[in-house]
Amino acid sequence: MRMRAAVLEEFGQPLVVQEVDLAEPKAGEVLVRLEACGVCHTDMYTASGADPSGYAPCVLGHEGGGIVEKVGDDVTSLTPGDKVVTMFSPQCRECVHCVDPRTNLCMAIRAEQNLGHLPDGTTRLSRNGEDIRHFMGTSTFAEYTVMPEIALARINPEAPLDHACLFACGLSTGLGAAMYTAKVDEGTTCVVFGAGMVGLGAVAGCRLQGAERIICVDLSDDRLELAKGQGATEVYKADENTVQWILDETGGYGADYTFEATGLVSVMQQAVESARMAWGLCTVAGVAGKGETLDVIPRWLIQGRRIAGSSFGGVKGRDQVPELVDRYMAGEIDVDPFLSHRISLDEVNKGFDLMEAHDGIRSVIEFN
Ligand code: CU
Repeated sequence: MRMRAAVLEEFGQPLVVQEVDLAEPKAGEVLVRLEACGVCHTDMYTASGADPSGYAPCVLGHEGGGIVEKVGDDVTSLTPGDKVVTMFSPQCRECVHCVDPRTNLCMAIRAEQNLGHLPDGTTRLSRNGEDIRHFMGTSTFAEYTVMPEIALARINPEAPLDHACLFACGLSTGLGAAMYTAKVDEGTTCVVFGAGMVGLGAVAGCRLQGAERIICVDLSDDRLELAKGQGATEVYKADENTVQWILDETGGYGADYTFEATGLVSVMQQAVESARMAWGLCTVAGVAGKGETLDVIPRWLIQGRRIAGSSFGGVKGRDQVPELVDRYMAGEIDVDPFLSHRISLDEVNKGFDLMEAHDGIRSVIEFN
């Protein structure tokens, strides 16, 4: 079929919205008609060319929500009409990691996904016979996408997709970091560094876990206001005294849980230093640039601080994204404040501009 999609033609250049070809879903694959898609920092990072593993031409986008249009052979868990959220982090339910409760890092299709292919090593996207690669196995800056069944989470049919699509990446990453990676305990003190989509999700996750104090640190007053709306009990405008202020606020010890949601290694360091001696857990949810390193003084670890990384919040997507969406539908998670701009597919580059200007939390592309 022919459809419109935003193609990354050349790194550092605006995406080009154009007609491309999309082939039928093969065995184990599903055709999804997109209704909404968030514009995420990872899309912009790849488009800029800063990621050495990026490739072009490809169709970007990974925060999608849509409706199943057609299923390929052997697809058993989805049928046409199902409402789904796309997942760059699949869940095959069979690999060594999927059957283990300690991780969400499904191994089923990793290698081909990183190459921009579907699991059989080919692409469904093309233009005049030339292959166009898939991005993160999702390619949702498009009217339709073909994806593996194991990378689609079927959600509550009542959930509005302009909100639910945010569970495809940033929001679940933040919620999950608190709920599934750190497993925040009731009555504890948490500090969240960064009040973008991931950090605000982490604040909400700490609240849902019953934390007593939730301190959010950011440079922007507007974002700190949003953090209060998600459950932050205190906010602090980041400065050179941030770590000392947190130590002073916690009897000199540091916080039970800290979360890093900026991707800056200098902030990761602050998050480690602000974790409580004896049992403080620092969860790193932000993605640092390739090749960057985090300096950790071993004495911090000997004194009982721990550091954990969290990819997609440790969320096992097909099982837990629907649960998170249900909690949103039950009124436990306020998604509305995250949706700052609604744009069309043709305005996708404007979505990048807004992000660069730190205007709002998320621009959501609406298709129709
Ligand atoms: Cu993302």
